[in-house]
Amino acid sequence: MSDGAAAHASELVAVAAERRWAWIVGAIIAVIVVMMVVTGLHWASMPPSRVETIDAKTLHLRGEFVESNLGTTLAPDGKVTARLVAQQYSFVPQCIVVPEGMPVTFRATATDVIHGFVVGTTNANTMVIPGFVATFTTTFPKSGEHLMPCHEYCGTGHEAMWARVQVLPRDEFLARARSGERLSCVAR
Ligand code: CUA
Repeated sequence: MSDGAAAHASELVAVAAERRWAWIVGAIIAVIVVMMVVTGLHWASMPPSRVETIDAKTLHLRGEFVESNLGTTLAPDGKVTARLVAQQYSFVPQCIVVPEGMPVTFRATATDVIHGFVVGTTNANTMVIPGFVATFTTTFPKSGEHLMPCHEYCGTGHEAMWARVQVLPRDEFLARARSGERLSCVAR
């Protein structure tokens, strides 16, 4: 084979390899674009699981978050639920009672703007968005008291927006919760 013919042959190999890779890269881009379109449409038409909406304008009038239903309840099946509302610039109730060593489900919503809260140094932490119910379940291993500040900037009173969380020994909590009332540690 002459030098010219060898150079020509290797050029053909290079061109074929480049074309092959162009097709592969093109296919990867096409797959990514299809994924973006499909997931975009899918998420737009069906929100992620556990997204629960609520009408922020009627919270105080009816439903789960009326004032008389806020606080902590013990269901007959032993489930503990703490319900609260966040608003500029306080939480209702201002003092939340939970048991030590039992799973507690928080259910929270906001009346006006985006708030959030974190309970002391625990992993209880969520945003609270008007129109949605924020839910998570956590267990407090030790009794004691925590501060619960709002951690989303919500206006000029943001830094003064906080509540307290009292973690009661399990027996004490159960004794208080048996009556079925909505518990809180707000002074009455
Ligand atoms: Cu509410 Cu910051």
